[in-house]
Amino acid sequence: MYHAKLDTFPAGFLWGAASAAYQVEGAADADGKGKSVWDEFSKVPGKTFENTNGDVAVDHYHRVLEDVALMKEMGLKTYRFSIAWARVFPSGEGEVNEDGSRFYDRLIHALLANGIEPMVTLYHWDLPLALEKKYGGWRSRKTADAFVEYARVVMERYRHQVKYWITFNEQNVFMSLGYRFGAHPPGIRDFKTMMEANHIVNLANARVVKLAHEIDPSYRIGPSFGYGPSYSYDCDPNHVLAAMNADAFNNDWWLDVYVKGRYPKALLYQLEKAGLAPTIREGDYDILAQGRPDFLGMNYYHGGTVQWNRYENQTLADGKDFNKTDPYQMQAQWSQAPETRMFETAKNPHLKTTAWGWEIDPVGFRVALRKMYDRYELPILVTENGIGAIDKLEADHTIKDPYRIEYLRTHILEMRKAITDGVEVLGYCAWSFTDLLSWLNGYKKRYGFVYVDRDDKSERTLNRYKKDSFFWYRDVIAQNGNAIEEKEGEQ
Ligand code: BG6
Repeated sequence: MYHAKLDTFPAGFLWGAASAAYQVEGAADADGKGKSVWDEFSKVPGKTFENTNGDVAVDHYHRVLEDVALMKEMGLKTYRFSIAWARVFPSGEGEVNEDGSRFYDRLIHALLANGIEPMVTLYHWDLPLALEKKYGGWRSRKTADAFVEYARVVMERYRHQVKYWITFNEQNVFMSLGYRFGAHPPGIRDFKTMMEANHIVNLANARVVKLAHEIDPSYRIGPSFGYGPSYSYDCDPNHVLAAMNADAFNNDWWLDVYVKGRYPKALLYQLEKAGLAPTIREGDYDILAQGRPDFLGMNYYHGGTVQWNRYENQTLADGKDFNKTDPYQMQAQWSQAPETRMFETAKNPHLKTTAWGWEIDPVGFRVALRKMYDRYELPILVTENGIGAIDKLEADHTIKDPYRIEYLRTHILEMRKAITDGVEVLGYCAWSFTDLLSWLNGYKKRYGFVYVDRDDKSERTLNRYKKDSFFWYRDVIAQNGNAIEEKEGEQ
């Protein structure tokens, strides 16, 4: 779609930046905080990059006022952060820990005093460890009950202070990595278990959305989804069909439930036949139907390219570590990786990648916004977008990060085009405000506008330094994004 002139960003557009409790706070057991599953998992040798953990992180807990002052200086309109459930309820349920909760009182108060809209994520992966031990975490509906109660306490506490709430951060990611690929806690590798746990999180999500509207009808609440649109490798209809399958498997499976209250029918049919569909109890669909969000949060980093599945595409199957004539291997493939019947990932020859191999695809961001909006017709809040890179602190304490500026500029430009196309976007939170702990990649993969002087081995000074991108984004916000235009020769 060509536009001779781009629309301006709406007035009140929420320019922001984001973080998550475990990645920034540190103060792992301060003021009565209980342990989370990440506190335990990150201590198991070999689970994280060079055994890094969030015990100290970037010490946001103790430097919160300094960090908010930097946000103010930057002109942030919103700051997205998560609450560590185990600070509020050290055992996940029971008595509220007032001492721990007061940290969020202070943060929210400081944000409001500086004219910054707090945007609160209720769950960014740090499940209280006690719930994992007692109930088996998200495999139990009791954990969903505890989550609803925790959400109730927090949403009542911050009435009249917080308007925007995120239920779950990237349910697709913490479910897949935690229950299917074993790379996050609880370290399980079983597709069916993931499906069951995922259904329970869906119920928790819907219950909390409903509850938020009961507590305060002016609340705006939704999940943040890790969205990656699927491209067909080329115009071979078989690849096109594979891309449809990939979208259903990677995106619609979650988003349809959030918005429509049901799973996409064709995929559900396939999983039922394979014995892999979640157990749906009587009444579950009623719960799901009552949890329609006000917006969809989108975390966008990149999409993916797919081709025809290995079972039908003989050329592909021959080259893979997979033997079609071996019934046991076939069965294992089907039960643990049903998507191999539907599509196969492929490399996209048109895209460059980051140092960590993530595709850089700003147009894909416009595609993502268009697809999500076309299918669900809900406003979109971009809750994460950014680039992980190795930054260098110069002797004069400057940090030159033109690659980050270019990444953000091209993505914001594509978002502006999507808005001009007709997509309703409420705000944009870059990931991240300060540097922080990358769950599995330690501290050297940096995302922030603010450099934090620490590395994987040592906490060093933990001093904050503004990167070049800090000043650039400050100007973007001051102009409400409207100086982000196409450069000559860019299309
Ligand atoms: C998102 C998460 O998946 O991606 C963030 O919500 C995370 O918590 C971000 O940090 C970047 O991922 P990574 O692996 O580079 O830290």
